Order: sequence, then C-alpha cells, then structure tokens
Amino acid sequence: MIKVKVPATSANIGPGFDCLGMALSLYNKFYFKEIEEGLIIEGGDPEFANESNLVYLSMKKTFEKIGYKCKGIKIKIEDNIPASRGLGSSAACIVGGIMGANEMAGRVLGRDEMLNLATEIEGHPDNVTPALIGGITVSISEDSRVYYSKINIAEGLKFYGFVPEFKLSTSEARAVLPERISYEDGVFNVGRVSLLISALVNGEFELIKTACNDRLHQIYRGRLIAEFEEIKDACNKLGSKGVFISGAGPTIMSMVEKTNCSFYEKIQRILSKLSNKWEVKEFELDLKGATTGEDI
Ligand code: HSE
Repeated sequence: MIKVKVPATSANIGPGFDCLGMALSLYNKFYFKEIEEGLIIEGGDPEFANESNLVYLSMKKTFEKIGYKCKGIKIKIEDNIPASRGLGSSAACIVGGIMGANEMAGRVLGRDEMLNLATEIEGHPDNVTPALIGGITVSISEDSRVYYSKINIAEGLKFYGFVPEFKLSTSEARAVLPERISYEDGVFNVGRVSLLISALVNGEFELIKTACNDRLHQIYRGRLIAEFEEIKDACNKLGSKGVFISGAGPTIMSMVEKTNCSFYEKIQRILSKLSNKWEVKEFELDLKGATTGEDI
C-alpha cells in the first residue's frame, strides 16, 4: 500500500495574494492501492466517494501525464484538514493524489514536475507549493512552470489558526474581488509583501503587523467573515505580531512570539464569548511538505 501525508497550508499571508504560503503541522493522510478494476473510496466526505473526487481526479491527470495505465484504484482518505476554511484542504487532496499516482507509476515525476501539475489543477501555486515543499514559500507561475523559493524565516514565531464553524468557498471569496485595482494599491502591496519577507528572514517581528496590511483581497473578504475585526483587534491587544486571513478564509491566522505564553489561553477566553463558534489551533511550521513512505 502507498501512503502519503500532506500538510495543511495557509496562503497569501496578508499582502502576498496568490504567491505566499506556509505549511502547517496539521495533515491529511492518503492510502492508495492498485486493484483489478473500478474505484473504491473510503473516508472523506461521502458526497465525493465517486469519480468527482479531487484526489482521484488528480491521480487520473498524473497517470495521463505519465502514460500509466492503472487498472483500478482503492483510495482511503484520513482528512484532518477542515474543508472550505482556507487551510488548503483542496491543495492537500491534489498533492496527495499526484504523489500517490506518481508512486504507483514508479516515481516518474520529480517534485518540480508534480508542482507544475498541481498548480495546473489548482489554478494558483500558493497552497500547493508549501504543501509539497514545506515551510514558507514564495511561488509564481509563468508559461506553465512554477518558480518558487523557500523563505528561511528566523526562529521565534508560533502560529495560531482561528477556525470558525461556518464555511466560505474559495469561489465565493474570489467573486468579491475587483477586476482591476489602482496603481496606488499595487504599490501598497509590493512594498508590504517585500517588507514582510525581509522581516521574517531577519526576525524583525515588530515590522510584521504593518507588513501584513493588504489592499488586494483582505479589505473585500474581511466583510464576508463575521467577527474578523473583533478577532484582529483582540489579537493585536494580546501582542500578536501579525494577523491575516488564511487563504480565501474564513480561518484567521495570527503570528505570535514563542515567548508570549499567555496568548493561547487569553484568546480562547475572548473567542468563547463571540456569537460564532471558533476553534483555536496552535501550529508549528511544517518544514518538509508532503511525504510518502511507511512511517507517515
Ligand atoms: N490565493 C488564493 C485566494 C488561496 O486567496 O483566493 C485560496 O485558494
């Protein structure tokens, strides 16, 4: 049996719309077996226990690319990444399917080829890159190829995700974005995303809060996320170094210094008094990305 483990991801990180992303210590696991015929899917959402399953579709694309004739497939999904919450559950399914198919076909594709294919399926590289490579990554796609770089960030930060019980689909969150932005807003984001990367590398954590400001998506999407402003304010008051919408939302992320020991308890107390139900998740950065093997 082939086993693949893929981390959750948080894309954008404020101003890095469609290009920044980080891999988190929360994982989906996938188990694959080639069978005589047909498709069997166990685990995951029962609505997708059929040919419309994203893991299966990604496997099919991979087999087409490689030219591998698979007789039939059994897929078992252990999904710990909540769906439609901005934590890269789709990216995890895509990467899991591609990696599983590649293993089945005899490891024909290298990681970069798998990344190009994953980006083709997902449409943007900011979740699939950290899901495959791990860490915090910058990635862009040009001429059907992904160019990426892993950011070696300074030690000292931990990451919290505030995951609501309500969902927000990426398509809904992309539909509220404008078709055009002003030159001024473009310049605003270029400066902040550059500052953010430099501050993360140098450990200049005081700069992160301002560097996380954004005019490409958060100002539009914030309105779709109930209690976003309240949570942002509470995080800032508790010494958070940066607050941003995770991917397309609705999860909200906060970067906090490891020395801020009371943050978790205090923010949990505040969130428990809000109208919606929010789960607080503490994450480490995942530095490896997707892995395969017996010991996943
Ligand atoms: N960059 C994407 C977005 C991530 O913000 O729409 C969500 O898939």
